[in-house]
Amino acid sequence: MAKIISFISGKGGAGKSTTAAGVGAALAKKGKRVLLVDCDIGFENQSIITGLCESVVYNWEDVISNRCKPADAIYKSPLCEGLYLLPAPHDTDRQYPEGILADLLNIISNNFDFIFTDSSAGVGEAFKLSVYPADEAILVCTDDAICLRGGYFAADRALKAVKRAFLVLNCFKDYPVRHSLVPNIDEAMDEVCLPLMGVVPYDGSISFRAGSGRTLFDSSAAVKAYDRIADRLCGENIPLPDSFENG
Ligand SMILES: Nc1ncnc2c1ncn2[C@@H]1O[C@H](COP(=O)(O)OP(=O)(O)O)[C@@H](O)[C@H]1O
Ligand SMILES: [Mg+2]
Repeated sequence: MAKIISFISGKGGAGKSTTAAGVGAALAKKGKRVLLVDCDIGFENQSIITGLCESVVYNWEDVISNRCKPADAIYKSPLCEGLYLLPAPHDTDRQYPEGILADLLNIISNNFDFIFTDSSAGVGEAFKLSVYPADEAILVCTDDAICLRGGYFAADRALKAVKRAFLVLNCFKDYPVRHSLVPNIDEAMDEVCLPLMGVVPYDGSISFRAGSGRTLFDSSAAVKAYDRIADRLCGENIPLPDSFENG
């Protein structure tokens, strides 16, 4: 059975999709089979990040509507062996019962080690679809008061469905923390009342490589952070580095 982890945030653009794909790729590099399930109905950015934009035909709505089998809607990402995508539907007018994905994920769960459900921001329909089937949640926040405040509410709501939730602090920079311009890591954890899963530094290569479905460089500061998070998800005790590159 796969461990199902929901990637959530209070605010859009915090880095949920990028982080889910990055950590998914890091786990896949370690030999795990990882399925990214895009719950962001209408936007479905995961197909861009995973390099599958041109390949996608079916999505999970086609599966639940019996238009195709689950295997037809699961795509192998060219980014990395072991990384797969189940894309989101485009139809934003349709309402889905919150348990609809849970039934589907239950059927395919044995084929994967990890399933990441990628939510949209806030606590709307995509959030419910993403959190309902999950065992745990990862709250992705940038290090600012607005994202952390929204993140607190999203995590509080998620914890009604999942057993545990963790914080990933994204786009982190050392400089503003050192000059007390933004919360430090402890303050950010206090703000959202969650333990820390990882800190991903701001990495300028992300938007032009991940945003066009290209593999990130192993030397990238974000990739190193995704690798550390993947190790922690596999039960390894990996300390935070003393400082963050590109910070
Ligand atoms: N660690 C990072 N460093 C720099 N840019 C990042 C980082 N993480 C995400 N981004 C960029 O931030 C933007 C929003 O990321 P995205 O994953 O789409 O957010 P969300 O899914 O939460 O809306 C994208 O342009 C992405 O490339
Ligand atoms: Mg997203």
